[in-house]
Amino acid sequence: MQRKVTVAIIGMGNRGGEAYPNYMKYCPDEMEITAVADPRPERRALGWQRYNVPPEKCFASGEALLQQPQLAEVLIIANQDRDHVRMALPALEKGYHLLLEKPISPSLEECIALREKAHECNRMVVVCHVLRYTQFYSKLKELLDGGAIGQLQSIVATENVGYYHFAHSFVRGNWRRADETSPLILAKTCHDMDLLRWFAGKPCVRVSSFGSLSWFTREHAPEGSTPRCLDCPVKADCPYDAEKIYITHKPAGYRQGVRGWPLTVLCVAPTEEKLYEAMRTGPYGRCVYACDNTVADHQTVNLEFEGGITASFSVSAFTERCYRTIKLCGSIGELEGSMEDHAIYLRRFGCPEEKIVLDPANDKFAGHGGGDSRMVEALLQMVSNGGGEALTSVDASVESHVMALAAERSRLHGGTAVILKEFEKQAISTSR
Ligand SMILES: NC(=O)c1ccc[n+]([C@@H]2O[C@H](COP(=O)([O-])OP(=O)(O)OC[C@H]3O[C@@H](n4cnc5c(N)ncnc54)[C@H](O)[C@@H]3O)[C@@H](O)[C@H]2O)c1
Repeated sequence: MQRKVTVAIIGMGNRGGEAYPNYMKYCPDEMEITAVADPRPERRALGWQRYNVPPEKCFASGEALLQQPQLAEVLIIANQDRDHVRMALPALEKGYHLLLEKPISPSLEECIALREKAHECNRMVVVCHVLRYTQFYSKLKELLDGGAIGQLQSIVATENVGYYHFAHSFVRGNWRRADETSPLILAKTCHDMDLLRWFAGKPCVRVSSFGSLSWFTREHAPEGSTPRCLDCPVKADCPYDAEKIYITHKPAGYRQGVRGWPLTVLCVAPTEEKLYEAMRTGPYGRCVYACDNTVADHQTVNLEFEGGITASFSVSAFTERCYRTIKLCGSIGELEGSMEDHAIYLRRFGCPEEKIVLDPANDKFAGHGGGDSRMVEALLQMVSNGGGEALTSVDASVESHVMALAAERSRLHGGTAVILKEFEKQAISTSR
């Protein structure tokens, strides 16, 4: 029988403060939060207000938490991209198993240093590539590995970020600047790189990539627009108007009944009053054409894997909804679907199409198509059982980071192909 596993959390924001602690709500016999850390007092307070953590175990920084003796078996690291490894290395030495937010780091040298430290300390590191744990992608993998379409030849995949999600996270929000967090291809789509590598079943050999920040720039600001949305005289015609996104319109508006993400990023326990205040004074009320964003708003990547399997992947801000699509093309058939439709289409060449319907009700809670809950469950089970092989181990995850960072290198160098072995070798030599 599974026992209760103790968990500490660094970074009580959207992921560390909302998504993963959800598991305790559904399975209080399997997870207990014993310590948290966050510099923002209102986020830190979630520790004692929501999760029964004694106030003296709610620290003002991850650094302070790590100065203590080991406070739990598992440490969730969910602060910002560039600070993960700085927390993870001493945590491994202290004896924690890690649930580590992706991306591990935008520095390949740091990713490699973490991989080595995890092996040295013999600790489990589960990287939050949550999509591998979803019913949708795990069923695709099962069908592919079971020979449903013969031998895989090529993959076509898209990530449709959604215009409002892109404006929220990548123009106004945390991931708008590659120099502060990560480039888009790592921050948003290391998940997709990870999936492509998983389906290919073989290492990626080379990549090339094109893309740019083409729209969310000052020259596209409508005439008469102002730096903030609430007092903008031309807001009526602007789909990116913050008031439409956060208050009135589907799918994220408060008046449409939304209470969670993205509103919880603007304030804790959102009310209209708090949201208006956040839009008046904070980053989320800024005009999308007057921010300091640098990340690409659309990008394509071509990849070649060992054995000649090819993949093409495209990510774009300019879509109505947030969803991913994938098509796996094999020697005797194809598999196609979109995670949000809860269905997979199997077409064996010359045979009638088969529709495989998935059941989202099987998941404990819904974040990332059920992937969040299944991933936490898998880690707690491994810790409770004293070991096991993580689906998204640090070894598997570093590969997707090499792919994403090589794609970014290609994008910034006119689309020239980057050979992954050489790219990683270079990073290893500079990390020593
Ligand atoms: N797995 C996924 O699918 C997924 C989805 C979204 C975000 N992420 C990643 O998760 C991480 C967190 O994202 P988020 O959306 O929760 O961001 P967030 O900004 O909501 O949360 C980060 C929190 O870290 C806190 N923090 C900053 N410095 C700290 C320190 N020294 N010690 C402790 N806490 C500190 C911040 O105050 C903030 O509350 C990021 O790396 C992000 O890229 C992963």
